[in-house]
Amino acid sequence: MTPIIIANWKMNPVTLVKSKRDFEIIKQGVKNVKNVKTVVCAPFVFLSNLKPGSGLALGAQDCFYNDKGPFTGEISPVQLRNLKTEYVILGHSERRKYLGESTELVNQKIIAALAADIKVIFCVGSETEKPGKEIKYQLEKGLKNIKEKDFSKLIFVYEPVWAISTTKNKIIATPAQTTKGCLYMRNILKKIFNKKTAKEARIIYGGSVDSKNIKGFLKEGKMAGGLVGAASLNPYEFIRTVKEAAKA
Ligand code: PGA
Repeated sequence: MTPIIIANWKMNPVTLVKSKRDFEIIKQGVKNVKNVKTVVCAPFVFLSNLKPGSGLALGAQDCFYNDKGPFTGEISPVQLRNLKTEYVILGHSERRKYLGESTELVNQKIIAALAADIKVIFCVGSETEKPGKEIKYQLEKGLKNIKEKDFSKLIFVYEPVWAISTTKNKIIATPAQTTKGCLYMRNILKKIFNKKTAKEARIIYGGSVDSKNIKGFLKEGKMAGGLVGAASLNPYEFIRTVKEAAKA
């Protein structure tokens, strides 16, 4: 499976000028990397100014569960699609933590995004070192009423909460831990969807990924890609991460 490397810029950068500049640097840097899919998930406010192409796709970091209507401050998947947004991150642990987003809400958002033909980067993770009950719950409830035919539009992210943005104190997951997480998730998916479909699920890893550790996660960890937060804020480091992934 061709690996996918996704930048999650979170609430960065602060200016439109920098967002455009960084996006263009990344576009130039990855345009000749053929065997990796590359995506940048940018804040809503910048999306209409970023021009995907040359192998770089555009993603958002959230969406609402209706197409239009009286929902002050919300952004719909149809509006995102209109801006050439191909992907959306849903279920991120930071939204659960800071905005109290529930798995039921995430489920509604996933359904709406898929209906608007947007690929969903569905994050699941737990506080515990071993993958456990929380992940099972997030997958089962988060995927309620998702049709088998839409399965190929889903990217699953194994994102242990304790491993996010920890580059400073170096508590990162090992490739062996990500393999376990991936296996655990696949076994749950086999119970939700048919076995063959679940076998083909794209499961990627997120949590302090950078150019130095990505190869380990892809090769030894057997992940199908990476979600890169902090390390994607330096466009050159993100390009290096994509190029390292191409070598895995
Ligand atoms: P990080 O973030 O790479 O800074 O750990 C990953 C994420 O939360 O998407």
